[in-house]
Amino acid sequence: MLDIKNLKVVFNQGTINEKVALNNVSLHLNDGDFITIIGSNGAGKSTLFQSVAGAVEITSGTIMLDGVDITNQKEYVRSRSIGRLFQDPLKGTAPSMTIEENLALAFQRGKHFSLKPMRNKKHRQIFRDALKSLDLGLEERMQTKVGTLSGGQRQALTLMMATLVTPKLLLLDEHTAALDPATALKVLNLSTKIVEENHITTMMITHNMEDAIKYGNRIIIMNQGEIIDDISGEAKQKMTVEQLIERFHEMGETNDRMMLSQ
Ligand SMILES: Nc1ncnc2c1ncn2[C@@H]1O[C@H](COP(=O)(O)OP(=O)(O)O)[C@@H](O)[C@H]1O
Ligand SMILES: [Mg+2]
Repeated sequence: MLDIKNLKVVFNQGTINEKVALNNVSLHLNDGDFITIIGSNGAGKSTLFQSVAGAVEITSGTIMLDGVDITNQKEYVRSRSIGRLFQDPLKGTAPSMTIEENLALAFQRGKHFSLKPMRNKKHRQIFRDALKSLDLGLEERMQTKVGTLSGGQRQALTLMMATLVTPKLLLLDEHTAALDPATALKVLNLSTKIVEENHITTMMITHNMEDAIKYGNRIIIMNQGEIIDDISGEAKQKMTVEQLIERFHEMGETNDRMMLSQ
């Protein structure tokens, strides 16, 4: 479903600041895969997502999504089929617009573009039902401006918006890292519920090794722009936090953030 071949991304090529962020990364995702991705800071995890989403210029390689070569496709075109969430809860929603207006925009994704919010009864009911499933009481606050919501509420809403029209691929880049533990857990559980119910092929970057083991069917470990481990099936099920930490020690990694975040 997603087929990445020999992907290379070099920032500031030919300058003193040249940085090889991705070094010939190849990755194949099967339909319905839920991959967790771990790796120390600067390993190239976010750049991998940016490349798939069309947000950075890639140096070489190809990316196929559902049989279509999207390597040179514009970011806004890809955004119709690729949902994204970032660490920053402020990123995915428009603060001066109401919850309903934000959802109306998300609902139009992939359809003909029009800024006119669809306020008819049918759509409002779809939004209300979707919000209800978040269990945050947001269905009673559809006319509230999104800027007044908490970080967790906004991230839950962003998740809803990214999946209201089921995407082919969902990219979660440490999307709960900025939330308090209880809210993070709630948003994570919501994410897996939506992913499972809609059978969405998903990649989730996390710095939390327990989460990397707990969620998904496959773990990928990145280091210095490369995929150095790809663990699935029984090996994934048997994986422990201790083994992952050992793996990080093996690559000379003593990143406190990785080690301490449980
Ligand atoms: N836009 C950019 N310009 C220059 N260097 C970048 C840019 N984005 C990322 N990098 C560098 O590329 C490397 C990989 O970054 P990133 O993909 O953000 O890592 P991760 O998400 O694994 O922490 C890092 O060394 C980072 O500093
Ligand atoms: Mg990152």
